[in-house]
Amino acid sequence: MAIERITVLISGRGSNLGALLAAQAGGTLAGAITHVISNRPAAPGLALARDAGVATSVVDHTAFASREAFERALAMEIDRSEPGLIVLAGFMRVLGAPFVSRYSGRMINIHPSLLPAYAGLHTHRRVLADGAREHGCTVHFVTADVDGGPIILQGRVDVGAGDDEAGLAARVLAVEHRVLAEAVNLFCEGRLSIAGGRVERAP
Ligand code: GRF
Repeated sequence: MAIERITVLISGRGSNLGALLAAQAGGTLAGAITHVISNRPAAPGLALARDAGVATSVVDHTAFASREAFERALAMEIDRSEPGLIVLAGFMRVLGAPFVSRYSGRMINIHPSLLPAYAGLHTHRRVLADGAREHGCTVHFVTADVDGGPIILQGRVDVGAGDDEAGLAARVLAVEHRVLAEAVNLFCEGRLSIAGGRVERAP
């Protein structure tokens, strides 16, 4: 089987991207990250990619008059790198249905909650405000239903009485890094399929 080409989309810090690049450098990533695209020119994650010798580009959403125009430009940039897998790793734009369906079944996202609980933003703060005992992260296929696509993997953390937002976010992030790399590997090994809106995982 050919090595899966992976394009990673980011908006900021890029620590999840960093975890994938570290796996790639360590020889434990089943695919090859060939391109990183940011919608923000100043995203610190771009430097991580450059330092790892991975091609980068910026498609700045503020330069486009409409979401549709931004997404057309983004799709052109993605398609140029001919990925088998697109990873949204802290990519902070909601994507429209035509864009999402173009990459159906080969675009995944990491979200910092145990979906379907806590879709949307500020998940750690909301978990703490609710007094929830359990939190975590989810890697899922991207569909037009924001944060609602078929779930590939989740990672759990217990919420302690002494947790604050920053500490909880850091503990979840460490789990994100592990779970995202594992999900990417499952995809690249051809072990994931979607049936009836659910992910099936081959042994
Ligand atoms: C992560 O918590 C991710 O789950 C969320 O945005 C954050 C991005 O962090 N979607 P980073 O840029 O990967 O460090």
